[in-house]
Amino acid sequence: MPTSIISGGSRGLGLALVERLLARGDAVATFSRSGSAALTALAEQHPTTLHTRCLDVSNADEIRSFVASTYERFGGITHCIANAAIAHEGVLATMRDDEIEAMLTINLKGSIVLVREAVRLMLFSKAEDAPSVVVVSSVVARTGSQGLSVYAATKAGLEGFAVSLARELGPRGIRVNAVAPGFLETDLSQSLSEDNRRRIVRRTALGRLGTCDDVVAAIDYLTSHRAAFITGQTIAVNGGA
Ligand SMILES: NC(=O)c1ccc[n+]([C@@H]2O[C@H](COP(=O)([O-])OP(=O)(O)OC[C@H]3O[C@@H](n4cnc5c(N)ncnc54)[C@H](OP(=O)(O)O)[C@@H]3O)[C@@H](O)[C@H]2O)c1
Repeated sequence: MPTSIISGGSRGLGLALVERLLARGDAVATFSRSGSAALTALAEQHPTTLHTRCLDVSNADEIRSFVASTYERFGGITHCIANAAIAHEGVLATMRDDEIEAMLTINLKGSIVLVREAVRLMLFSKAEDAPSVVVVSSVVARTGSQGLSVYAATKAGLEGFAVSLARELGPRGIRVNAVAPGFLETDLSQSLSEDNRRRIVRRTALGRLGTCDDVVAAIDYLTSHRAAFITGQTIAVNGGA
């Protein structure tokens, strides 16, 4: 049975991913700082295949221990999906040091440390399992968005990380890709003003915001044998934004 680690599985895209990968038959391990009623209910339905813990991705020791406990519990790690992130919106000139620090630490460093810990153990997985890493970026890494420059920097950093890591791990049979969603209907985008929301929809070819399911489908694909020859890519899931 493939084992997938997903950061930030308590709500939004992470929770939708946990549900999809459990449904396709993976053992799943996920964490977030606070958990959620939805994730607790899911853990009750899947007592043997869902491993959850409350922890902060900025704590490298806790990440190391969580990844090790996943390996011990399920006997391997096949896929790692770095999804947890935060977004502080605001023009750079007024952004506080602690906001900048938090985005860099959680979105970029936290994802890199999680992937490092997972990859160390994924090196033991079998090539026929098609092991892979997916980092969750954002449309703003490439298109830009006023008020999201630091958040965009963390996401652009992840895309650069993925393309180099793909070269490093390709010879070991591990694929590394990024997925860059457009704006989605989740807690993270709740702060969008009505004006901004209308502007985004207007400039999106398909005329709507994305859903978690739109993005889950791409990650489901990238973490499957169907994507066995795809690595070092960023797949945009943005409706033509
Ligand atoms: N929503 C959008 O419009 C959009 C667009 C493009 C890309 N994305 C990307 O898609 C991914 C998922 O976004 P989302 O909209 O689903 O976000 P969300 O609804 O805010 O969920 C974020 C998840 O990450 C967890 N998390 C945040 N900080 C954490 C930390 N320090 N340690 C551990 N877990 C942490 C949260 O749980 P806790 O708060 O309990 O820790 C939650 O489970 C993110 O990478 C985001 O940048 C989102």
